[in-house]
Amino acid sequence: MMDIMQPSSGGQSPPLSNRKPNRVLSGPSLVVKCLLVAACCLGSACISLRHRQASTSGGGDQTPDPQPPTVERRFSDADEWAKRFEDPKRDEWQQPEKVLNLLSIAPGAKIADIGSATGYFPVRLSRAAPAGMVYGLDIEPDMVRYLNRRARDEGLTNLRSILAEADDPKIPERVDLIFLCNTYHHIGRRVDYFRARQADLRPGGRLAVVDWKPGDLPVGPPPGHKLAPERVISELTEAGYALVMRDESLPYQYVLVFQPTHRWDPQR
Ligand SMILES: C[S@@+](CC[C@H](N)C(=O)[O-])C[C@H]1O[C@@H](n2cnc3c(N)ncnc32)[C@H](O)[C@@H]1O
Repeated sequence: MMDIMQPSSGGQSPPLSNRKPNRVLSGPSLVVKCLLVAACCLGSACISLRHRQASTSGGGDQTPDPQPPTVERRFSDADEWAKRFEDPKRDEWQQPEKVLNLLSIAPGAKIADIGSATGYFPVRLSRAAPAGMVYGLDIEPDMVRYLNRRARDEGLTNLRSILAEADDPKIPERVDLIFLCNTYHHIGRRVDYFRARQADLRPGGRLAVVDWKPGDLPVGPPPGHKLAPERVISELTEAGYALVMRDESLPYQYVLVFQPTHRWDPQR
């Protein structure tokens, strides 16, 4: 075993029999040095534990998460999810025509739907913008497969689904509208994520967020998964947007529309 207090002698350790144990193992300076080394080890162990705790969502750490909550959940089986997302009863509370009217979709609009899933809104958006283009972006390969097959089966040539990454939706060209329904709360590091989305917008482009109202509702996720509209507004304000429209006339969801506050820059 190496003696941590023994000075190196050109890489050669003296034979054990030549060592002077009393000089090495006794004296007040040794005690002080040992205490110092122990304190350093303890200190660095504490720092690495804090870093580990801060980088996980587990409890116990006092470091506040700057952007909670993000609901991480997989939506891997599109056929199964379609039973819920495409349930005709959804129309009663989702009121898709009202949402499209609120958004005033131009016939030639280019639109990106982040979290497009099985296409509930992308299909309707593509019909509202027959001379435009709708991109459905989702991180689940099975959702992308499902929506592309649906677009083909329903003859929607202006609808294409693309596989997104969690921190980059991969919008293939600048669009007039970025739209999210019930997906905003699934996105992580939202301020950075949406700040970067400004580069995906054309001049005058908008960002629309439809998400669940807080509280215990007969449809949608549990209350702890929901974000109050004020929270969305404050995050997107920080990300460089201004609220231009707020509507809460749907029974279970709010509709918020934003535009970037900066002047449009072709270099971005
Ligand atoms: C609750 S579903 C909403 C589906 C759809 N917008 C609707 O209203 O029917 C959320 C969808 O967002 C997708 N999703 C989650 N995080 C995402 C991310 N970071 N980027 C793109 N899609 C994401 C999921 O795979 C899922 O298909």
